[in-house]
Amino acid sequence: MNTISKLGLGGHSFIEQLGNDPKASFEEQCAIVSACLDRGISLIDTTYYQERVALGNVLRQLNRRGEARIVAWNFFKQPGKERDLVEPTRYEPHHIDTMLAELQTDYIDILVVHTHEDADKLRYELGLAKQWMAEGKVKQAALGMVKPEHLQLLPEGHPVSCILAPYNAFNQAAMETFEQARSMNMEVIALSPFIRGYKLDEIGENTAEVSEILLRWVASQELVGHVIVSMRKKDWVLANLEAERHGALSEEDQRRLNSWIDRLA
Ligand SMILES: NC(=O)c1ccc[n+]([C@@H]2O[C@H](COP(=O)([O-])OP(=O)(O)OC[C@H]3O[C@@H](n4cnc5c(N)ncnc54)[C@H](OP(=O)(O)O)[C@@H]3O)[C@@H](O)[C@H]2O)c1
Repeated sequence: MNTISKLGLGGHSFIEQLGNDPKASFEEQCAIVSACLDRGISLIDTTYYQERVALGNVLRQLNRRGEARIVAWNFFKQPGKERDLVEPTRYEPHHIDTMLAELQTDYIDILVVHTHEDADKLRYELGLAKQWMAEGKVKQAALGMVKPEHLQLLPEGHPVSCILAPYNAFNQAAMETFEQARSMNMEVIALSPFIRGYKLDEIGENTAEVSEILLRWVASQELVGHVIVSMRKKDWVLANLEAERHGALSEEDQRRLNSWIDRLA
């Protein structure tokens, strides 16, 4: 069945760090991506270079690159830190070809510029993104980890048509940014519905029910175009799609969620 879903697959699904479970095997990674593509989840995020390499291998194995909408951020391999999760690096002209080679593709669907406070440098990076779009190497440019001031400072003729930021029931700070982005006709992508899964453990109740409520809280919001979840098991894909189908929270679900927020926020 192929229905329209707001869910996207997070790149942390492909790495060992930043999750509750061990790294998925290559076979499991292929099964996860297949399960997503088969069910209308085409948006796949990659943050660290290790995730780009993993996704490139999976899509080549599946021969399904054309079905995925790949998101890629400016986190790059650094000498001596090949196994680490490093900080973002500002884009330079050579970076696009590195990313394309890692992903084994000739275009990136959404290229993300990680925001920072150096306005001149950010303008330079957006210029590069625009050039790469003109060359057909990038389809769409986005800003990641955005705050309202970043949107206000966007220069005339900027290429940004999408924003990404963590947004979940425990961290609603991005709401204002999302509202502003929507008023600028930008696509809004919410990250981290379970706060890396840590909240699922902290809440300490039935995990299936907790994850369903946290996911429905984000996915049912009109403001939110997509929700990126990392999933190291194919079963999570099916469970999260089912949760999404249940739609907005009932009053009882909302009361339950409020009690967790009161206890843990
Ligand atoms: N958080 C940020 O600041 C940030 C920044 C840039 C990009 N992103 C993107 O956003 C994506 C998602 O964010 P995130 O990794 O912070 O965390 P998340 O998606 O909020 O949580 C992921 C965790 O939830 C668990 N999980 C997923 N579905 C589940 C289910 N149905 N039942 C039980 N557990 C479930 C996963 O467990 P397993 O370990 O078993 O899979 C994983 O540990 C990332 O992969 C990345 O692409 C996030």
